[in-house]
Amino acid sequence: MVYPTSLCACLSLLTVLSCHSHVLPRLSFPIGSPGRSLTGFTNPDVYNTTTLLLSDNEDTLFVGARDAILSIDVSQTDAMTMKEKLDWSPSEKDLVDCAMKGKMKMDCHNFVRVLQVLNSTHMYACGTFAFSPRCIYIDSKTFSMVTGTSGKPEEGRGRCPYDPYQKNTAITVDGELYTGTVADYRGTRPVISRHLSEGSHVDLKLDDTLGWLEDPTFISSSYVPSEEKVYFFFSEIGKEYDFIDKFTVSRVAQVCTSDVGGQRTLQKRWTTFAKAQLLCQADLELPYNILLDIVSLPPPEGESEDETLFYGIFTSQWQVNLGRSAVCAFSLKDIKKVFTGRYKVLNRDTLKWSTRVQEQMANPGECGLHNASDNTLRFVKDNFLADKSVQPVNQGLTLVSLDKSYSNIAAQRVRGAHRRDYTVLYLLTESGYLQKTVLLENGAHIIEEIQVFHQPQPVKNLLLSVSKGAVLIGSSEGVISVPVSNCSYYWSCAECVLARDPFCGWDPVTKHCTNINTHDHLVQDVDEGNVSAQCTYVNPRSRSGQSRTPTSEVVSVSLNEVVHLQCPEASQLAKRHWERLNSQLSPRIYIQSDDRSLRFVATPSTLGHYLCQAVENGYTQTLVVYHVKQKSSPTILPATPNRPHSIPTTEAGSKPSVFTTRLITPKQTELRPKPEDMDPTVTLKDSPTTTTRKSRNFTRFSNIDKENSQTEPGENLKQADKPTYFQELVVVSVLLALCISALLTIAFHRFRYFCHGRTVPQTPSTRRDGEKGGSATPQERESLKGHSPCLEKRNGQTPNGQSRNGQAHNGKSPITLSNSMLNSSNGHLPNTPI
Ligand SMILES: *[C@@H]1O[C@H](CO)[C@@H](O)[C@H](O)[C@H]1NC(C)=O
Ligand SMILES: *[C@@H]1O[C@H](CO)[C@@H](O)[C@H](O)[C@H]1NC(C)=O
Ligand SMILES: *[C@@H]1O[C@H](CO)[C@@H](O)[C@H](O)[C@H]1NC(C)=O
Ligand SMILES: *[C@@H]1O[C@H](CO)[C@@H](O)[C@H](O)[C@H]1NC(C)=O
Ligand SMILES: *[C@@H]1O[C@H](CO)[C@@H](O)[C@H](O)[C@H]1NC(C)=O
Ligand SMILES: *[C@@H]1O[C@H](CO)[C@@H](O)[C@H](O)[C@H]1NC(C)=O
Repeated sequence: MVYPTSLCACLSLLTVLSCHSHVLPRLSFPIGSPGRSLTGFTNPDVYNTTTLLLSDNEDTLFVGARDAILSIDVSQTDAMTMKEKLDWSPSEKDLVDCAMKGKMKMDCHNFVRVLQVLNSTHMYACGTFAFSPRCIYIDSKTFSMVTGTSGKPEEGRGRCPYDPYQKNTAITVDGELYTGTVADYRGTRPVISRHLSEGSHVDLKLDDTLGWLEDPTFISSSYVPSEEKVYFFFSEIGKEYDFIDKFTVSRVAQVCTSDVGGQRTLQKRWTTFAKAQLLCQADLELPYNILLDIVSLPPPEGESEDETLFYGIFTSQWQVNLGRSAVCAFSLKDIKKVFTGRYKVLNRDTLKWSTRVQEQMANPGECGLHNASDNTLRFVKDNFLADKSVQPVNQGLTLVSLDKSYSNIAAQRVRGAHRRDYTVLYLLTESGYLQKTVLLENGAHIIEEIQVFHQPQPVKNLLLSVSKGAVLIGSSEGVISVPVSNCSYYWSCAECVLARDPFCGWDPVTKHCTNINTHDHLVQDVDEGNVSAQCTYVNPRSRSGQSRTPTSEVVSVSLNEVVHLQCPEASQLAKRHWERLNSQLSPRIYIQSDDRSLRFVATPSTLGHYLCQAVENGYTQTLVVYHVKQKSSPTILPATPNRPHSIPTTEAGSKPSVFTTRLITPKQTELRPKPEDMDPTVTLKDSPTTTTRKSRNFTRFSNIDKENSQTEPGENLKQADKPTYFQELVVVSVLLALCISALLTIAFHRFRYFCHGRTVPQTPSTRRDGEKGGSATPQERESLKGHSPCLEKRNGQTPNGQSRNGQAHNGKSPITLSNSMLNSSNGHLPNTPI
């Protein structure tokens, strides 16, 4: 299976190359990496820990789970311990009733979906309670259930969904509960309502007016004190776009907290409900129309609340954007402007929306309409859909991911060195990674990604504890806490600056990368990451900002041996290349693979020093130095029957030469936990899989090797003009290349579908499956791997932009929907179907 796999590797590489705007995380930590340790909470008796709530002092995390509510001590960042557990399960009879309704036993539990602090003494919780929602008060001090005056738990209809898989949102303001959920068993009656109101402040809900909500999925809600408004975020069917069947739109809706309903018209109904479209769209592209999660980011200190931003994750209903995610930011100022603008009107006979042309009788969405006339209220009742859409700030996408589907988001404003503020987003991917991204003027920079789940989780929740510096993630399996940063991971000034992490700065005195809060005069350059400008004071003798010497190793070889030198990866953004002291690496002699390893035949002229260097953001650092020298006493190479192969030569009189391949990796014993990793020289033929890069482990350079190190350069550095075994290699390579080209052309068509299922690899390290093919000889593998013909050929055949789905690409979707049509929400909706 070497051919199909390597073909796929080529194709996936291509898709990566064709994604220009693709942003790679600078570092990627697999689960369990020592550089980014996680704290977890799991309990064998606790499941579906998905509703999270932090106490005001952020020392306690309340978790709504299955049949239970927990309080967890999170005051220490490196430990999570359960303080208390409140059991809240349906009775046997409830379970029997649930089963009678034909529901799965697994879903007939009580899934806690609303968990809010009500006032200084009580909390409030609602659960699905075996498809019969209930709510309870919880005494915060004793963490015990308080049943109401009637002695019975409260009915939860309209506050919590019946079905645990249905999404909902809830928020408390001044002891009142605002919710968005479905209010019936079948999940067909969505409602935005207010509960727990007292006195003249009555409970309110939506009127049954046509079109107030159209099959919504509730995502989030947010209270803005200065406006005295609660904003709801959801997606629903955009009925105003009647030319497309079931076009989903994302919405923001508002209600005033002062609302008490009308006196005759709209009695016990909202008089202040209004909704508008959130449009997450880049120029000349289909919109990312489905909202998945949204959070608010308060304005910087001292600025108006109008500068509050809402960061949302969107996906698209169209095939072209399948598997992609976009992040858009909306400002409160823009949302307010849309709500104070014009509104659309629904023609009740034709069920078509249009922009109102008649005189405006009132301002829909305005607070304080309770004493308004019936006429005014009737107008308000019919005018709730704002005419204009809310456009994202800067008129574009904040971030787009072509290969990761984001599911949850948290946002934080971080004060870096020099008192500059940066916006940091934490994005959870479907595949179980948490990406930390800083938003910069020229785009987003993904500082790192940390794997938090082995398996993708169906229901998740993300919460940021700013004071504790941790991101809390709730899932079906437990709660995980991820520290927002680990500055000590960056071992040099250069790495600390290149990371561009606003939490981290280089301390020139202690020579450590440390948290920005601890010191004042730290070196940091989040915007540019310019090492040469920032790390100047370091040891003037080292031309770089490196505080440690790179690994330096002696490699003893026999002549004619194929030497294979590995180069570690310090960052996914760095470009690695090889250098020899005082000479160029001719591609005729040296083969560099995709994984940046170097291969050549040991001859007198190729002995000497080899440096692998990484260039990132205009800064070059040496990752490893090898000194390749001849073994002092010639040894007889092992000759196995099949391999190494004897290679016939073209030159008359030459003797067949024996080839072996040695894979050389840098010594990093202190960083390699597994014994198999510790052997720096492994021959390919013995264990081909050892070629898999362990680069993530390459975090620090070991100090200079005792064995070798300060060997003076210069010996054996004469240019290679004499005959080498290069020609043999070339002949074999060319022959193989021809065969492979032919095979690939055939194989391409046959294995197209095989490849289609593959997703774009997110890290270079997952890209090299080709090598794992079992049966190839070392030489075959040599040629296969080193072979750019494969790539070039594919480049010629596959048009740019062609990626995972093969057919539905090049920007043309199966639905040809022009932008102007979608933009036409600003008034003139085409009523003609396309
Ligand atoms: C280091 O490599 C080992 C073995 O490949 C792996 O289990 C471990 O997760 C790696 N650690 C890091 C930091 O990448
Ligand atoms: C931070 O990174 C350093 C160096 O890799 C490691 O020793 C330490 O355990 C890490 N700390 C955390 C909290 O992950
Ligand atoms: C908080 O709310 C509960 C339930 O409504 C009520 O019994 C309690 O008196 C309230 N506490 C305060 C301090 O208002
Ligand atoms: C609304 O009208 C009632 C009675 O007509 C009056 O008592 C109340 O003050 C009015 N409220 C406002 C906000 O004007
Ligand atoms: C609860 O967790 C299990 C896995 O532990 C998952 O299969 C199930 O879908 C979850 N239920 C809900 C309602 O999230
Ligand atoms: C880094 O800073 C130096 C000196 O300030 C400047 O000359 C150089 O152009 C900068 N490099 C980059 C990549 O911005």
